[in-house]
Amino acid sequence: MRVRILGAGIVGLSVADELIRRGHDVTVVDPAPGSGASYAAAGMLSPAGEAWHGEEDLTRLCLSSLSLWPAFAARLGVPIHTRGTVLAGVDAGDVQQVERQLAVLDLAGVSYERLVRRELLAREPGLGRVAGGAYLAEDHSVDPRAVVAALLDRVGDRVGLDTDSFVPHESGSTDESAGRLETNTVTVIATGTRLPDPYSSLIRPVRGDVVRLRTQERVERTVRAWVHGEQVYVVPRTESDEVVVGATSEERDGPLLPTVEGVWRLLDSARRVLPALDRASVVEVTSRDRPGTADNLPLIGPTQEPGVVLAAGAYRNGVLLAPLIAQLVADHIETGSVEPAVDPRRFRMKEDG
Ligand code: GLY
Repeated sequence: MRVRILGAGIVGLSVADELIRRGHDVTVVDPAPGSGASYAAAGMLSPAGEAWHGEEDLTRLCLSSLSLWPAFAARLGVPIHTRGTVLAGVDAGDVQQVERQLAVLDLAGVSYERLVRRELLAREPGLGRVAGGAYLAEDHSVDPRAVVAALLDRVGDRVGLDTDSFVPHESGSTDESAGRLETNTVTVIATGTRLPDPYSSLIRPVRGDVVRLRTQERVERTVRAWVHGEQVYVVPRTESDEVVVGATSEERDGPLLPTVEGVWRLLDSARRVLPALDRASVVEVTSRDRPGTADNLPLIGPTQEPGVVLAAGAYRNGVLLAPLIAQLVADHIETGSVEPAVDPRRFRMKEDG
């Protein structure tokens, strides 16, 4: 098949890599590869940490994608940080939130270790005043920027930067130059929060501010914490002294600029959980939109237009879900198979009326 992929973020590039491996003729178009949500992402591979009530299908897909990561990372030559994740609550209300999350994990059959303060400190000696929590042994992380760089290396000169053809898909057009398909070609739309019509209304941008710090004090594992009702995560990079602190979650538009309030809240929460971060240097503050959907599940598979396939809506789990999305899209292109939970046709698209 000839497959044209719109979007060279971690999802589009993973789809490209999988299709190239399977022998298809692939091109990728993006004016700025890897500059969207993949650029901001902390890179948590965290099905347990992200699990929440009513999202059983999403947790199942995240667990399934996690199992693909060791082979995927090995192929790309990027390390996975496998020291697990500490989940902590600072006050009694925060510990209650942790307990709610553990109840979700019980229902999903995901194992964890409940920890008292002393045990939490044994796992992560730099923790401050935490009251209780848990250890999520299977929640790992990668550096998404390293993943994107490795994917770009592999996909190579099949990536075009041509801005004119970035959003070429004109609904209802019969003109190939406007993105209409020949019968043996497929267009995969993996443009994050910016889907062309008639798909744009399927995505809701959810803004996230993220701060990158440099610290001399070692952070052993990813720490996810509730801090007086605020959520924060701190993800250490294995290869450097950088930690990623994230992330705000705001349903708002406007320029992609971090806000003072957002950054202040993140840093205030992070320094309460890991007090040594007071001495860290701020190296970067980034703001990007997550591609959310109405039910928080991705959109992977066919649309009402023949040959137009979505690989979109990965919301909070784009990095984690990338290898699974790649497989699902490639399987769909080759066999027509669709995973019902993520079938884009579960939503009405604009032209359906
Ligand atoms: N997966 C973490 C986030 O979206 O902030």
